[in-house]
Amino acid sequence: MEVEKIDRRGMKNLLDRFPQQCQEAVRIGETIEIPSLSEPRNIVILGMGGSAIGGEILRDLFYSHLPCPIQVLRDYKLPPWVDKSTFLVAISYSGNTEETLYSLREGIRRKCSILSLSSGGELAKLSVQEGIPHISIPEGMPPRTALGYLLLPLVVILTKLQLVEKPEFEETIKVLENLKEHYTLSSPSSPPCLLAEEIRGKIPLIWGVEGVTGGVAHRWKTQFNENSKILAFWDIFPELNHNEVVPWGGEGEVNLKNFFVVLLRSPAEHPRIRRRIELTREMIEEKCGGIKEIWPQGKTPLSWLLSLVYMGDWTSFYLALLQGVDPTQIKPIEWLKKELSKF
Ligand code: PA5
Repeated sequence: MEVEKIDRRGMKNLLDRFPQQCQEAVRIGETIEIPSLSEPRNIVILGMGGSAIGGEILRDLFYSHLPCPIQVLRDYKLPPWVDKSTFLVAISYSGNTEETLYSLREGIRRKCSILSLSSGGELAKLSVQEGIPHISIPEGMPPRTALGYLLLPLVVILTKLQLVEKPEFEETIKVLENLKEHYTLSSPSSPPCLLAEEIRGKIPLIWGVEGVTGGVAHRWKTQFNENSKILAFWDIFPELNHNEVVPWGGEGEVNLKNFFVVLLRSPAEHPRIRRRIELTREMIEEKCGGIKEIWPQGKTPLSWLLSLVYMGDWTSFYLALLQGVDPTQIKPIEWLKKELSKF
């Protein structure tokens, strides 16, 4: 596979650097001073696309530990319960995403405690104007390749605010470095390369678990959309056992062989979820176009989540190359943003 000819904008290099990015991101978080906060009633993450997904992963990471809910909002407006007892975190890689800026301005009016994160743009300017603590991250990357920068400084901040315990960052970075050595090889000995071959020509259904791997499942879906330029769908256990299993009875007219199911597994699954996954697998195995279970690496929840993310990022990258499409370009998103800016 001639990687450089198709990956003209160098996504492979960014994937290779992901473990290093995570290390730098932790350092960035450690250098940020933020005013102490009386215990927030809720934490709201504002963001869109590649800048929002870190919020979902953050929520899963601390699902069983945080004393208050984390909600990711991807919209122009805020619900009425967002008020001065809310810790509002506005994230936009470019700093110019209109939905995030609109809802942030509303958050300022409602006197929320606010933190912002971007590589520059309007968000950085507004933060200076309003005296909002701002996390500045390196610029010039596609937002979806900056997940370490978009997520890990927040993890550090939550530990500084004593809302959660510090995760094992060093272990996670070691796990990612080790995976990089295997994943960077564009040959069938590389698990993501092999998985991309299996998925090629099919529609991936990515199934995670509520409060465990739901955010990662969503991440896989969006990476298949943006990097590989294919339709992909995600869902979570146990909810999918109450609806998405029904078509697998085979009564509809859709060819189920067109779908490839990816099961994102985790040592953190509830025993009854584990049983649900086994039974669901039994039900669909012969009918779908392929099925693969992906187990995480490492010993701690952060390495479990980021190792699963990393596998998905590389798989979607290799799938782009197999189809001869540039993984970096996202022309339809750029066109929409350009047209909207005229309005
Ligand atoms: O992957 C992408 O480029 C998009 O999903 C962007 O992240 C999204 O459009 C929001 O832009 P930004 O991340 O700059 O706020």
